[in-house]
Amino acid sequence: MTIREYSPADRGAVREISYVTSLEGRAHDFMDAREAVEDALTVYFTDHVSGSCFVAEDNGKVVGYLLGTDDVKMMEKVMALNILPRIFRDMVVQGIIFRKKNLLFLWNYCLGFCRGEFIRVRFDHEFPAAFHLNIMEGSRGKGIGTALVERNLAFLRSKGVPGVHIGTMSEQAKDLFIKLGFKVLYSSRHGYLKYVLGYDTPYYILGKKLKDDH
Ligand SMILES: CC(C)(COP(=O)(O)OP(=O)(O)OC[C@H]1O[C@@H](n2cnc3c(N)ncnc32)[C@H](O)[C@@H]1OP(=O)(O)O)[C@@H](O)C(=O)NCCC(=O)NCCS
Repeated sequence: MTIREYSPADRGAVREISYVTSLEGRAHDFMDAREAVEDALTVYFTDHVSGSCFVAEDNGKVVGYLLGTDDVKMMEKVMALNILPRIFRDMVVQGIIFRKKNLLFLWNYCLGFCRGEFIRVRFDHEFPAAFHLNIMEGSRGKGIGTALVERNLAFLRSKGVPGVHIGTMSEQAKDLFIKLGFKVLYSSRHGYLKYVLGYDTPYYILGKKLKDDH
């Protein structure tokens, strides 16, 4: 298994992994809009800024990735002003938004929004870097996630970035990050996926300072 920098040739594999691992691995149960989901999760990194992006390759196949930025504020700006409006416009123009599953997802997302589930807690001053990490199901539990995070931490330290944070809905991922020296900065529960999953999902933001921890 090799950990290496992302290259444009990995774009398809990274998009595929993002889709099959998103929304508790059940994106298909929530939405009928594969391209939009893949775009929302990866296109900033693959088509805009491939800042700190790494992949894990096993026998010539990409089995996991870490997509990261050292400037989460910039990422959110590009997402809000450019990427998300474009995805939404394409979904409307192509009529994809009007598919039943997508309307239901949007409705439940709006309900979650009204309940205050997405109120943003800001950590980007102390922890300006952020990332997301996903490993294909058959390749989990083999140290790949740990290796990708460590590679990213080394990269961020070499650039003098003061801290990094990550949001996750996964208890297992939370435990892994704690093992890697992250601290829980914020925790709550989200109900917007309950109409399919049948339960509220936890949501954690964890952070790690990079300047004085080594
Ligand atoms: C969470 C995730 C990124 C961790 O990556 P990973 O390569 O499985 O992580 P590692 O192998 O380095 O370590 C995972 C820890 O989980 C445990 N684990 C064991 N079996 C596992 C399995 N089948 N799947 C996942 N984790 C497992 C391991 O015990 C390990 O802890 P340990 O070091 O005490 O042994 C990966 O499981 C994943 O992609 N999950 C689904 C999507 C997700 O939750 N992404 C996180 C978004 S932030």
